[in-house]
Amino acid sequence: MSLILAIESSCDDTAASVCKDGKIFSNIIASQRIHEEWGGVVPELASRDHIKNILPVVDMALKKANVKKNELDAIGFTRGPGLVGSLHVGAAFAKSLALALGIPLIAVNHMHAHILANFIGQQPSFPFINLTVSGGHTQLVLMKDYLSLEIVGETIDDAAGEAFDKCAKIIGLPYPGGPLIDKYARDGDPKRFSFPKPKTANELDFSFSGLKTSVLYFLQKETAQNPNFIAENLPDLCSSIQYTIVDYLIQKTKKAAKKHSVNGIALSGGVSANSLLRQKFQQLAKNNRWDCAVPAFEYCTDNAAMIAMAAHHLYIAKRFASQDTEPLARWEMAEALAAGE
Ligand code: KG4
Ligand code: ZN
Repeated sequence: MSLILAIESSCDDTAASVCKDGKIFSNIIASQRIHEEWGGVVPELASRDHIKNILPVVDMALKKANVKKNELDAIGFTRGPGLVGSLHVGAAFAKSLALALGIPLIAVNHMHAHILANFIGQQPSFPFINLTVSGGHTQLVLMKDYLSLEIVGETIDDAAGEAFDKCAKIIGLPYPGGPLIDKYARDGDPKRFSFPKPKTANELDFSFSGLKTSVLYFLQKETAQNPNFIAENLPDLCSSIQYTIVDYLIQKTKKAAKKHSVNGIALSGGVSANSLLRQKFQQLAKNNRWDCAVPAFEYCTDNAAMIAMAAHHLYIAKRFASQDTEPLARWEMAEALAAGE
């Protein structure tokens, strides 16, 4: 039996969740809107907002789960990777609460947690290939067990979410542009414009930096002839960009799953909220008779329920962290799991 409170503060969302024996009882999130006007997350503003939000968010998570602080068995928190100032707020809060209550502290790797979001309300069978696509990461991970994994492919430059956001910015859409591209793409023609899908030395790696450059040059050329080109072609533009990114992700996932003879495929990270990606991913699994796991929308983008899920499995393995555990801006999953998070 484990009753865990988990805290996530790695970027611009302050979140807390309570989980009992691996079942989520509450999942509270305060998303910071302040960054929209700056066109990206401003680290200093994010840390200040976390300080304001953390107490009410944790209070609400406990209340919603109908749990009192002194009933908790452990506190989980995101140690990294992420913005170090933001991570410090969650870490300091988690450490003080664990110390005051005299219960263990569990340091969770944010990327590992994104994968374990697939175990909320569903049970993918090992081994499976997980495609993690977020604003900062794009990885193909061979999951052998909850705490045993191997990265078999990753981006050599931009992340998939970054590709969505940077292309959106070129088109003139506000940050974060991924969800807006998804929205406008619905009425567009995905094959109207074609953009490159670069080859990489390792066939399971990704490269996205060329896409934004090709979108930029293409639009410079078109708007020189017709200044209204973007406004007149917004759905087709969004649809074609989205199709390029999604098709590339799907082809690589297919290769990875075949190469490693897995039982299934799973999707996670903020970009897994993308409607075309979800649809194509499910289709890929069906065509190859693979199991398919895709998290519910609320567990795709940053949240604390996924941190709670990872903390739950670390708790079972008794992988506790000491009070002097420092947040890490960069922290590889393999390192986190080898060191005993
Ligand atoms: O995992 P996440 O919430 O934060 C990070 O840890 O990075 O991912 C955020 C990323 C952003 O780049 C955002 O544009 C993208 O996920 N995203 C989407 C969609 N929803 C969020 N990209 C494409 N389509 C969406 N529907
Ligand atoms: Zn994330």
